[in-house]
Amino acid sequence: MRRIYLDNAATTLLLPEVREFLCKVLDVFGNPSSVHAVGEESRELLEIARENTAGLLGVDPECVFFNSCATEGNNTVIFGVAGERRKGNLIISSVEHKSVSKPAHVLARRGIELREVRVDRNGVVDLEDLERLIDGDTILVSVMYVSNEFGTVQPVEEIAKICGEKGVPFHTDAVQAIGKVELRLEGVSFATFSGHKFHGPKGVGLLYASAPLKPLIHGGGQERGMRSGTENLYGILAMSKALEIIFERFEENVSRLETLRDRFEDTLLEALPDAVIVGKNVPRSPAISTVIFPKFTGWDIVRMLSEKGLMCSSGSACSSGEVIPNPHLLAMGYSPEEALRAVRFSFGLLNTEEEVDEAVRLIRSLF
Ligand SMILES: Cc1ncc(COP(=O)(O)O)c(C=O)c1O
Repeated sequence: MRRIYLDNAATTLLLPEVREFLCKVLDVFGNPSSVHAVGEESRELLEIARENTAGLLGVDPECVFFNSCATEGNNTVIFGVAGERRKGNLIISSVEHKSVSKPAHVLARRGIELREVRVDRNGVVDLEDLERLIDGDTILVSVMYVSNEFGTVQPVEEIAKICGEKGVPFHTDAVQAIGKVELRLEGVSFATFSGHKFHGPKGVGLLYASAPLKPLIHGGGQERGMRSGTENLYGILAMSKALEIIFERFEENVSRLETLRDRFEDTLLEALPDAVIVGKNVPRSPAISTVIFPKFTGWDIVRMLSEKGLMCSSGSACSSGEVIPNPHLLAMGYSPEEALRAVRFSFGLLNTEEEVDEAVRLIRSLF
């Protein structure tokens, strides 16, 4: 059966050029920490990748730390800012990815007060609420750049400004932003990324840190002591290559993704006028379209579509055989019934218009 992959927010296929590059660098086996010539060659390549990445992100290479994924990056930031502290408060939005909200809850069990900023019906944080929540004991504000569930873009520049004025470090989980929206890191203290979300390899990520952090992983002192463990060099090189291609063709890519998403939404709404697109009228990633369907649970729809060859994702979890409404949609003011019926379709650079048309046809056949 033919398969159509519209779950690019979960992970993406390697771009053909990245795949080719990765195959070439698989023979680079030296340990960048070794003092001999083989190690030195690897070290040079590692530093070129760091300079390249920093240049693309417009940041100082000294602030770039390679790691394994965004989950590691998010944990590093949250635990790294808290250090040994057992007092103070941490502010996150109510729609964060679990790799931010779960470590935040661990800190809450340790005595740090967890405060959640309200979001509106589109999942956008309420800036007045944020200002109200920040006080002299706030250790960190963490708000994602782009929602992995709805594609909503957060007002990162305004949040950075508020945090700057109040002297509070600001972290943004920018996993879903790369290649989808113009990235602005001015005023951002920490940002986290993951290679496999932008057509790079899995198992490699990147942390931008412009303020001190206590490391999460201790050992050989790699990454200037911030992240011990032998670097995943070929992963890092291939991620850097993917980033380069994504930035080089940014406008073309965004317009391509927008065309796919808009074609999908327009034809879907024509076929199913009762369907609702979350965050349709606010700044949104061109790669994500979350639909609340008029019937069935999101969970059932994902399973039925998978049987037909269409891969997508549902934000509702299943616990003890019962489907639970998406908690973020509830926080955004949707009813429990609506929050059960959401399905996310996410587009990548390797999808085609023809696939989108076929996807809509398959969805239509369920209703
Ligand atoms: C917004 C966001 N943050 C963090 C992550 C975690 O990324 P990784 O699985 O690469 O650690 C994801 C992955 O879905 C994500 O979408």
